[in-house]
Formats: sequence, C-alpha cells, structure tokens
Amino acid sequence: MKNIVLTGFMASGKSSVGKSLAQKLNIEFIDTDNLIEQNLNKKITDIFKENGEQYFRQQETKVIEELSDLTSCIISCGGGVVLNKYNIELLRKNGIIINLYASAQEVYKRISNNKDRPLLQNTTIEKIQSLMDYRKPFYENCDISIKTDNLSVEQITDLIISKILV
Ligand code: S3P
Repeated sequence: MKNIVLTGFMASGKSSVGKSLAQKLNIEFIDTDNLIEQNLNKKITDIFKENGEQYFRQQETKVIEELSDLTSCIISCGGGVVLNKYNIELLRKNGIIINLYASAQEVYKRISNNKDRPLLQNTTIEKIQSLMDYRKPFYENCDISIKTDNLSVEQITDLIISKILV
C-alpha cells in the first residue's frame, strides 16, 4: 500500500488524524517533527531558538530523505514541509499527499495557549491568514484536499479512508 502523507497548516489536525488512521488501518504512524526531535534530542522550539529555522528545514529534509523508501505508513508532516518542492517529490514517490486545511479562525482557536509552535507565538488571526495565503499554492500541490473545520477526527479519518479506497 502507498503511504498516506498528511500535509497542512499548523493545527489543521495532521497528528490526531494520522494517529487515528494508523490505528484504524493497523499500520505505522510516523511524524516528521517527532523524528527531528528524536534525532537531535531537542524540542522543536529549542531547535528554532538555538539553531534557527534554516537548520530546522535542513533536518526536515534529511528526515524525509530517510523515510522516502518506506511504504504502507501514515506520515504526518510538519506544516512547512510543503515549502520545499524536493520534500514533496520524495514523499510523492511512495505516497498519496493529503492536505488538511482549517480556517485561520479555527487554527487560532486551536493554538491559543500552545507554546510548542515557534512560528505562531503571540500571533493573531490576521497573521495566521497572511501566512496561510502565502502557503496556499504549496498546500494545493496535493492529491486530495480536506477541509477539517467542524469535522471530528473520526469523521476526517473515515473520509480519507473512503477517498483512498475507491
Ligand atoms: C511548522 C510547523 C510545525 C513544526 C514547526 C514549523 C511550519 O509542525 O514543524 O514548528 O512551518 O508550519 P505542525 O504543523 O505539526 O504544527
């Protein structure tokens, strides 16, 4: 089976949906952010703070290169993975790219009080919207797109399964 690769803006539901899909399909769940944290033994926020975003992006690509030969896995990607075309080319080799998206209002609601996302500290709905607008064409480079506002993790999981099993 091809991998199911979940992309999308921060807090669009990739990790929760990814875990749920993995459980339902009884296959492995992989999260690129977790792999980076494990490799460097450091939290994402500290990597951004101490090594900078560019270094983080290099680590992201390294992790994707390492997992690009796998099959039959759920791969949940950090929200910025799509910004590098090479990452998506690698992921597409064995995978179906599914983009999850949520409105800026919904993302704002989900991330309030969360300190784990360096790019969304002290943010506003307007700033989220502007980053989303910039990234839109990158997220649109996918095979299936799903709007997650008002859908439960379970509903999104079933929707993805129904779309890939046609
Ligand atoms: C980022 C998204 C984060 C994480 C890092 C950068 C981004 O992952 O990789 O903070 O640039 O969109 P999530 O999408 O899982 O929050």
